[in-house]
Amino acid sequence: MTQRVLGTHGAARERLCFALDYASLDDALIGARAVAPYVGKLKVGLELFSAAGPEAVRQAAALGCELFLDLKLHDIPETVERAVAATRASGAAYLTVHASGGPAMLAAAARRAEREGGPTLLAVTVLTSLDAADLAATGVPATPADQVRRLARVAREAGIPGLVCSAAEVAGLRALLGPEVQLVTPGIRPAAAPTADQKRVATPSEALRAGASWLVVGRPLRDAPDPAAAAQALLAEVAGVAAAG
Ligand code: C5P
Repeated sequence: MTQRVLGTHGAARERLCFALDYASLDDALIGARAVAPYVGKLKVGLELFSAAGPEAVRQAAALGCELFLDLKLHDIPETVERAVAATRASGAAYLTVHASGGPAMLAAAARRAEREGGPTLLAVTVLTSLDAADLAATGVPATPADQVRRLARVAREAGIPGLVCSAAEVAGLRALLGPEVQLVTPGIRPAAAPTADQKRVATPSEALRAGASWLVVGRPLRDAPDPAAAAQALLAEVAGVAAAG
């Protein structure tokens, strides 16, 4: 059954990333093994990396998916540049930096990733858990859409190949930046799933139709009664959108 799913939906699978937001590596590997047949990428974020470190990246990468290390680096340029180099050995294919770290930090990170031959950097624009009121509270007098556009330009001009944004900004960024840029969208909620702390959410179909390259999904799979079945349903939805063109 799994083989048939993989064979039929191989391209769709590449458009899904499962966020391994677990407190321990043991729990993460149980979740990852259940979901991995239906997704092309696994994400190690702050919780799991804080608990298990680069070993989490190595073991998750060994499950046969691309590994996305979501550390959201944001520091002075030299510190970020050296952290980028330090992740190289872990086997991560993708790594996040915060676009709000500014042009010098982003350029240093981009140069170092290129020199090291990876990982592919993705710049986080405005977190999907923030809305206009949150931006205003931190002194940013812009809508999320305008701020995402501004940060996306800064990141691209600094040489960062991909961007993380909500589905609401994807169509605008595609029009602005063209077909090549990788646009990655978290804040994905299958219909009726709880939004929790996410504020700028969309269904998988909405995000893909808007032009997202691939989707990051965490709690809707992790907290499902049967994560493998939930992942299989998600993959079928993604394949359906792709087939409809
Ligand atoms: O559980 P949920 O599907 O909301 O998980 C989203 C994942 O994507 C989390 O691991 C979170 O850290 C990450 N993420 C995000 N918003 C961003 C970047 C990453 O939610 N802008």
